[in-house]
Amino acid sequence: MQFTTLLPALLSLGLANAATLAQPSTWQVTNWQIVSSGGTVYSFNITGAATANSPGFKTHCEGIVPNATACDDTNITAVVTEQTHPLWNVAVTHEWHIFPAGESEQTYWQSGSKNVSNTQNNFTITPTLFYGVA
Ligand SMILES: *[C@@H]1O[C@H](CO)[C@@H](O)[C@H](O)[C@H]1NC(C)=O
Ligand SMILES: *[C@@H]1O[C@H](CO)[C@@H](O)[C@H](O)[C@H]1NC(C)=O
Ligand SMILES: *[C@@H]1O[C@H](CO)[C@@H](O)[C@H](O)[C@H]1NC(C)=O
Ligand SMILES: *[C@@H]1O[C@H](CO)[C@@H](O)[C@H](O)[C@H]1NC(C)=O
Ligand SMILES: *[C@@H]1O[C@H](CO)[C@@H](O)[C@H](O)[C@H]1NC(C)=O
Repeated sequence: MQFTTLLPALLSLGLANAATLAQPSTWQVTNWQIVSSGGTVYSFNITGAATANSPGFKTHCEGIVPNATACDDTNITAVVTEQTHPLWNVAVTHEWHIFPAGESEQTYWQSGSKNVSNTQNNFTITPTLFYGVA
């Protein structure tokens, strides 16, 4: 019974955070490269400008399709999966933690993905999912 009464409160907290976190935010990807020889290896650089609600970042990501791999800045994780030829889905997640004075730690994520071909060098990803867990 306690769980069923708690759930709506948690959901409304989640939606409130989603609204405040849904500030304009665009990640810029440069030097996207994907090479198949045995395994399929990708690499790219990604930059996210800081917004009122999310810290900025700039890092290099490199990994093997289709595994999730932490980028050089381990707050960023990339997953690249094969789509209908010649497209690849590039999914990126940014996770960070905030330690408000006198409160428990908060965890936030922003995630976004884009389908790109192997010939696109630069593109943007607009994060579409926003979570905050108090
Ligand atoms: C991609 O971005 C890099 C780094 O900003 C730049 O040097 C390069 O000219 C860009 N390439 C294209 C095709 O826009
Ligand atoms: C990509 O990131 C690597 C590693 O951080 C860096 O050495 C390189 O200059 C970056 N390239 C571009 C075009 O930003
Ligand atoms: C990819 O992930 C799977 C499952 O965790 C693992 O078995 C496999 O070794 C990984 N492949 C590479 C190339 O890291
Ligand atoms: C990763 O995020 C934490 C906050 O969660 C921050 O303190 C740290 O500086 C970030 N790492 C980098 C490389 O920006
Ligand atoms: C990428 O392509 C797949 C398959 O066509 C589609 O289901 C998915 O919604 C696309 N994702 C994006 C971010 O466009």
